[in-house]
Amino acid sequence: MTTRILPESLLVDRVGVLVTNDPRLGPGPLGPVTDAAVVVEGGRVAWVGPSAHAPAADVRVDAAGRCLVPGFVDSHSHVVFAGDRGREFAARMNGEPYRAGGIHATVAATRAATDAELRANAVRLLREARAQGTTTLEVKTGYGLTVADEERSARIAARLTDEVTFLGAHVVPPEYADDPAGYVDLVTGPMLAACAPHARWIDVFCERGAFDADAARAVLTAGRSGGLLARVHGNQLGPGPGVRLAVELGAASVDHCTHLDAADVAALADSASAGGTVATLLLGVEFSTRQPYPDARALLDAGAVVALAGDCNPGSCFTSSIALCIALAVREMRMSPDEALWAATAGGAAALRRADIGHLGVGARADMLLLDAPDPVYLAYRPGVPQTAAVWKDGDLVA
Ligand code: NIG
Ligand code: FE
Repeated sequence: MTTRILPESLLVDRVGVLVTNDPRLGPGPLGPVTDAAVVVEGGRVAWVGPSAHAPAADVRVDAAGRCLVPGFVDSHSHVVFAGDRGREFAARMNGEPYRAGGIHATVAATRAATDAELRANAVRLLREARAQGTTTLEVKTGYGLTVADEERSARIAARLTDEVTFLGAHVVPPEYADDPAGYVDLVTGPMLAACAPHARWIDVFCERGAFDADAARAVLTAGRSGGLLARVHGNQLGPGPGVRLAVELGAASVDHCTHLDAADVAALADSASAGGTVATLLLGVEFSTRQPYPDARALLDAGAVVALAGDCNPGSCFTSSIALCIALAVREMRMSPDEALWAATAGGAAALRRADIGHLGVGARADMLLLDAPDPVYLAYRPGVPQTAAVWKDGDLVA
């Protein structure tokens, strides 16, 4: 065969198992190819196939039998914040319940921080996530809760990621405690207008103690009129209307899904066939708040699309490790290792309505994680052990 030299190209060669998430390339949803190679050109996957037939490239990386998977797509984080809630976590582990009211402590610290402090903390967490294989991180506002503080949170987030979510409707801040309807007017009016230019998504915490179904509907509808796409925090602390509202409004994802009834599961399963609402499970929250895990099996067995995401935030879950989430999903929610890896990559991409990430078929962005392991099952098999050998984003080596 002829050898082609591709301009500014990268060849990752002698990959033991390549997870493509492209069912045309291998059996099952993960589409694995063994003894594989990938060629990247212009930041995109240009060629995938057996190592023996790989074309030459400008740069060659020898994977030496290790496995290569799509970079993790973490579709839920709150990394723009200041302050520390380590003592709140300690109190919880000593028997105190999780209270979403802890959010107010972070709001106060965030308002008091400078732009540079907020940015430095967010960059630190983004780098931490990237070093563990996360190549896409959605970032929410939601700890500012004034027009100015939400706007600067969105602006800071937009310098870190394309996936910025306006979450002015996180909780009602103390100054509006007596006028929650006035706060919804602020969120849907001037706050939305200030944040929408920086954001792709609108989100709302639809939960008892935060926003009820009517307020959540008003927020999401206003956001959509402002050009944003909807996603929802729902059914985290108890049963509620979040899931059905998300499905009704065609939200890309409803996140948490910890307390679901049969109708919620059926609604998510029905919407899956229409490319509708993904059920995003944030099981680091259940781990860190010592709550029962969501029923992933009920969702998967009913046919819902399930994503796993990290929810990195200072209150309910301060981890940036998607590998930990995969290990917990397998051990604690009885997801198969393949289901968990798919959910943390292709599932996250579905939750962000992105066709260019979460898989390694030809044309995909070359967002790749080389694991220091012979098989992707090692993500769950070796919990807590660093296994990142290399991370590429858009074909650039970033870790
Ligand atoms: O996704 N559920 C609401 N918001 C965050 C928690 C925020 C906090 O406790 O600071 C979450 O879990
Ligand atoms: Fe969240």
